[in-house]
Amino acid sequence: MIVTLDGPAGAGKSSTARELARRLGWCYMDTGAMYRAVALVATRRAIPLEDEPQLAALAESIEIRFEQGRVFVDAEDVSEAIRTADNTTATRPVANAALVRAAMKQIQRRMAADRDVVTEGRDQGSEVFPQAELKVFLTASPEERARRRLAEERAKGQNVTLDEILASQQDRDHGDTHREVGAMRQAEGAELLDTDGMDREAVLAVLLGWIEARRPAPPTAAGARPPHA
Ligand code: DC
Repeated sequence: MIVTLDGPAGAGKSSTARELARRLGWCYMDTGAMYRAVALVATRRAIPLEDEPQLAALAESIEIRFEQGRVFVDAEDVSEAIRTADNTTATRPVANAALVRAAMKQIQRRMAADRDVVTEGRDQGSEVFPQAELKVFLTASPEERARRRLAEERAKGQNVTLDEILASQQDRDHGDTHREVGAMRQAEGAELLDTDGMDREAVLAVLLGWIEARRPAPPTAAGARPPHA
């Protein structure tokens, strides 16, 4: 079964998707981390961030894996390196490149083949897995998302203001919703979950309920008939 969680930055997708996959014992795909990984390796190899064919070839040539909450490129744990401010900036042109998105779609489909997966990003329900059994668009108001982000940044010792976070969030939302290919949108048939005022457990409870309701029935023996009453 495939569950897709899409939505804007700061809606709590990553922590929700990771915990959901952990509780279910399913695979977790952080597709933002995949774009970030391509940007990181491109920068290290001095591949110009506007060279779409080279970026797409790079995406095909590296192996990105998720293991126990960490992100690996080939043998290297890149979990921290992909989240620096510089790499976040470098990721934007990579995620906007149509050829990279086309390559990613194939890579993500291969990764999810014949598995139970929770996948998280911007286009998972709309472009990559439109046939997923459960598609969710997870969101929250800009103020709530910025407040959560502020708490995270302060916990990391970063000295940022709510206004700064709101401004950069607005910028990212605009970029994500206006890119030419793979723009963030609520997929057809996706459930909308607005998490304003909900804590993590409440969000997980809603998602687990939806999954239970849509889980395909286990296969029965061919020709088996229900017992007569
Ligand atoms: O979710 P995140 O911040 O780690 O995403 C990193 C970047 O990748 C961000 O610019 C949005 C983009 N992205 C995307 O275009 N499509 C996805 N499926 C996931 C992320």
